[in-house]
Order: sequence, then C-alpha cells, then structure tokens
Amino acid sequence: MESKTILVTGGTDGIGKAIAGALAAKGAEVIIVGSNPEKGVRANRELRLATGNDRVHFVQADLSLVQEAGRLAGLVTAQFRKLDQLILCAGIFRAQRSETAEGIESHFAVNYLSRFALTGPLLPRLAASGKPGAASRILLISGGGVKDGKIHYEDINLRRNFSVMRTVLQVCGANDTFVIEQARRLAAPDGQPRVTINLLGVGVVRTNIRRGFPLWMKVLVPLVLSPLLGQTPDQIAESALSLLTAPEFEGVTGALFKHFDRLRPGVRTPEGIRRFERVTPGKRTADPGEGRRLWELSEELAAQAQHIAQPAR
Ligand SMILES: NC(=O)c1ccc[n+]([C@@H]2O[C@H](COP(=O)([O-])OP(=O)(O)OC[C@H]3O[C@@H](n4cnc5c(N)ncnc54)[C@H](OP(=O)(O)O)[C@@H]3O)[C@@H](O)[C@H]2O)c1
Repeated sequence: MESKTILVTGGTDGIGKAIAGALAAKGAEVIIVGSNPEKGVRANRELRLATGNDRVHFVQADLSLVQEAGRLAGLVTAQFRKLDQLILCAGIFRAQRSETAEGIESHFAVNYLSRFALTGPLLPRLAASGKPGAASRILLISGGGVKDGKIHYEDINLRRNFSVMRTVLQVCGANDTFVIEQARRLAAPDGQPRVTINLLGVGVVRTNIRRGFPLWMKVLVPLVLSPLLGQTPDQIAESALSLLTAPEFEGVTGALFKHFDRLRPGVRTPEGIRRFERVTPGKRTADPGEGRRLWELSEELAAQAQHIAQPAR
C-alpha cells in the first residue's frame, strides 16, 4: 500500500476515519476530507500519531456543495501526482429537512450528489493509476438493507413530502443506482476496467452521526438497536480494506455488498473472518433505464449548482 495515494471523504470522523486509519497504518498516502477545519486538523494529527504515518493530509471542503466537490477535485489533481483509490464516505443524518446554498435537499446533496460530482473529475487521475489486472478502486459507504430505494424524480428535494425514512431510502437508492451505472460507463472493451466501483452498505454503526437523529431514534438506536445489531467503525474499516485490497475483488465492479450486523457471525475465509456479502440489486436499481435517468438528473442538478453564486469564502 506504500505506493498508493487514497482520498477518503468523511475521513475525519466515524467510519471514514477508521478506514483512513487502517489505510494509513498500511503505509498509504491518505487525504482525508471534512467540512469542519478544526475537527479535520485534529483528526489528521490523531491519525498520524496512531499510525506513525506522516503522509496523512487534511483538506477542508464542504461537500454539501457541488462547487466545493469541483474545487476539491481540482485541488487534489493539482497537489497530488496520482490517485489510486477514492472512498466516498462523507454523510449526514438530520431530523429536519434543509436545503443547501445550491438549493438541493441536504441529504441528497452530501450523501449522494457530491459523490457524483467528485467522481467525474477524478476519473482521469484514477484511470491513469489503474492498469489491466490492477484497477484503481472506488468504494462508496452507504446504508445497507435497502433494496430498490425509491428516487423521487418528480420532487427530488422532497419539498412536498419530506420524512427521514423517505430521504434515507432515496439516498440509498441513488448510491446503489450510481455505482451500477458508473461501472457500466467504465466498462473496458478488453473486459479489464482501469477503474472499478463498488458499494458497502452498512447497518447500525456506533458513530457521531447519531447527533442528528430525531428524538425517537436517539432513544431507540443506542438502547435497543445498537446493543443488538451495532457494528464498530473498525469492523466496517476491516471489511472496506478487504474490498480495497484483496486480490479476489480485483476486477469486481458495479457490485453492492452488505455488512453483517452483530447477530450474524462472520464467515471464515483464507484471509480471516469476513463480515460482508455481495447482494443482488433490486430490479429497478439494476435497470439501465433507471441508471441513465439518475445520471441525467445528476448532471442537470450539478450543472445548475455551478451557476449559483456563493457568498465570498
Ligand atoms: N453510522 C451509521 O449507523 C450509518 C448507517 C448507515 C449509513 N451510514 C453512512 O456511513 C457514512 C459515514 O457515516 P458515519 O456514521 O461515519 O458518520 P460521522 O461519524 O458523522 O462522520 C461523517 C463524516 O462526514 C463528514 N461530512 C459530513 N458532512 C460533510 C460535508 N458537508 N462536507 C464534507 N464532509 C462532511 C464529517 O466531517 P465534518 O463533520 O467535518 O463535516 C465526517 O468526517 C455516511 O455516508 C452515512 O450515511 C452510517
């Protein structure tokens, strides 16, 4: 891993930080991204100290904004000679509906649209690092256990009918569909893509994302669901590392994986205990027409967002 340069959005906390730490411990150069500069600097210091790797860097970017995703891609391309892996983990969970300065519902913006907007401009760099038989890898962290999460094309910002569950299902559906569609678009004529893209869906994981939960979830999740089903960020990181490095996942692309919960013991493999499995996507999610539709909507929203004036930074 020492020769690898890896970008981890959401690498300043929770699951992303655990993944960044696991990669840094293996000697990779790791760029972590978060919106909060103090937290980012602190996480950077902690990761360097914990892993003894001084090639961990923090870059601040507010990934609720498409314009910021573009700025981040430009900065990474300018400052780092290569990029081998991209881990898209930044995410939020809020009880109340809100919109970003670019007019997009916040969950859809942070947990999905920024991922779409960041991936496109970084693909040339990733493709340049990938070789046949040793592809660059993109991994998305999203919610597991959702099949065919409905995307509300007619009201993508959920202005008419917002609920926490509706936004979660929409974001999961968008991430799943994006991974499959992006893999289609990265397919190589020789059957050996230079860049692969997969998704690891997780259930209940003990992280600070809970601060944004509505009251009923603040009670139910830590008292009931977490003791019964909860996983730690380190367990998710171990699985992510396997997907990012294990030879058996070389060339695997457009795949959705689901992390086990606490009730389900891991499966023994030659590499150790595995706590995830590949799942079959729902019919709608796997439909190329749905993939195209989401892609076109995402391009349209991203293009509109580029024209919205932002307050001076
Ligand atoms: N924990 C769970 O139970 C669970 C379950 C299902 C899915 N997931 C998914 O797993 C992913 C990671 O969640 P987590 O539990 O690790 O959350 P977390 O501990 O709250 O960490 C979230 C990370 O995302 C970053 N982030 C949030 N908003 C951002 C923004 N606008 N711009 C840039 N970075 C931003 C945060 O940095 P800043 O605070 O500095 O912005 C932080 O580094 C998310 O996509 C989440 O939806 C988690």
